[in-house]
Amino acid sequence: MNTVVLGLQFGDEGKGKIVDIFSEFTDIAVRFNGGGNAGHTIKVDDRKIVLHYLPSAVLHEHVELILANGMVIDPIEVEKEINTLEELGIPVRKRVKISGAAHLIRLVHLERDLQVNKITGIGTTGKGIGPCYTDKIARYGVRVREISAPLVKILPNCSQYLHHCIDDGKRVLFEGAQGFLLDIDHGTYPFVTSSSTGIGGVFSGSGIGPMDIDRITGVFKAYTTRVGNGPFPTEITDPQDKNKHHLTIKGNEFGSTTGRKRRVGWLDIPALIYAIRANTVDELAMTKLDILSGIDPIKVCTGYKVNGHKVNYFPVHELSDAEPIYHEVPGWQEKIGDVEQFQDLPVAARNYIKMIETYISSRLGWGGISIISIGPDRSQLIRR
Ligand code: GDP
Ligand code: IMO
Ligand code: MG
Repeated sequence: MNTVVLGLQFGDEGKGKIVDIFSEFTDIAVRFNGGGNAGHTIKVDDRKIVLHYLPSAVLHEHVELILANGMVIDPIEVEKEINTLEELGIPVRKRVKISGAAHLIRLVHLERDLQVNKITGIGTTGKGIGPCYTDKIARYGVRVREISAPLVKILPNCSQYLHHCIDDGKRVLFEGAQGFLLDIDHGTYPFVTSSSTGIGGVFSGSGIGPMDIDRITGVFKAYTTRVGNGPFPTEITDPQDKNKHHLTIKGNEFGSTTGRKRRVGWLDIPALIYAIRANTVDELAMTKLDILSGIDPIKVCTGYKVNGHKVNYFPVHELSDAEPIYHEVPGWQEKIGDVEQFQDLPVAARNYIKMIETYISSRLGWGGISIISIGPDRSQLIRR
């Protein structure tokens, strides 16, 4: 059983938490895109770990950790991350393998990222991502295989290695970074990251094929956040709005990589449907439902008006002319972080989920949200 976990919004959907949970039943965990721009958080009891390079399977000591060819690698940062985890008593170094074909982020990339960002106003993470991928595509990048004395094992052929593992019956988990709306081709260009964050990135970024995948799990927050600049139609922009304050503070919506305050807003169902369809997602995980406790009513975007015309799709390339259409549903006050079964959620919370499922299935023929996360801890999860 080989699984892909993808973010369906603007990143920070809670992919790290879901990957950690899936890792119990995984032999090999693979990051296939991005680099240190990612910040994936896992929390078990009092231990909270934020990962930028290593797959979020690190706490499961039986899992091998692969940084595949589609990634861009800052070796100093990878080394720091390995050392930090080892100091916490988590054996990591011997489990890590980096593709020799992944590209190296160098000082010049970090400098150029900051300079270019001043001109474009994208609000990048400053980790050298765009400039490193630029050099890769321009064919004068420097690859990991050129490191003379690597401190972890380098894979000469990541694709072949993964095929051997899959043929041996090993279970592989592919962990996406960022979210589909930040995809270089399908996101809100130019306010995107520089890699393929969707399902296509799995194939180009690791060298396996579509038939090697058994399950594609899409992760989304019960509302929406975005860090950095760019279109965000359902953003709550009024600084006095109490719901904006609620989502920011209760949701602890501050970037895991840069510490920047994330922009917050309502769930965008057309955007969600776009991401599910484009990535052939076949399982949905919703996170941070607990953060909506205390918001009443809750708004959701169910369609758009583009130049005055109603549409039911996400107008990703026409967002400057688009206005969200909202539907309001009753909220709930109860705290839900301890709930174990779906039927024990407040009725308004259950109805919120069913309403989303109805919209999705009216367009795609299915829309079951089978995983519901109700807190940061590994244990705070409802399965249906
Ligand atoms: P990722 O980049 O997709 O892995 O997400 P991040 O780690 O950047 O951001 C998600 C944040 O939400 C982290 O701080 C998680 O610990 C936290 N989190 C994940 N799921 C839940 C949840 O269901 N409820 C709450 N309250 N926090 C969650
Ligand atoms: P995870 O994996 C949220 C955003 C940046 C910026 C844009 C381009 O934790 O979900 P970059 O440094 O990639 O060139 O920045 O993309 N961004 C993310 N936002 N979560 C992430 O990763 C992100 N990685 C990049 O804020 O707007
Ligand atoms: Mg993150």
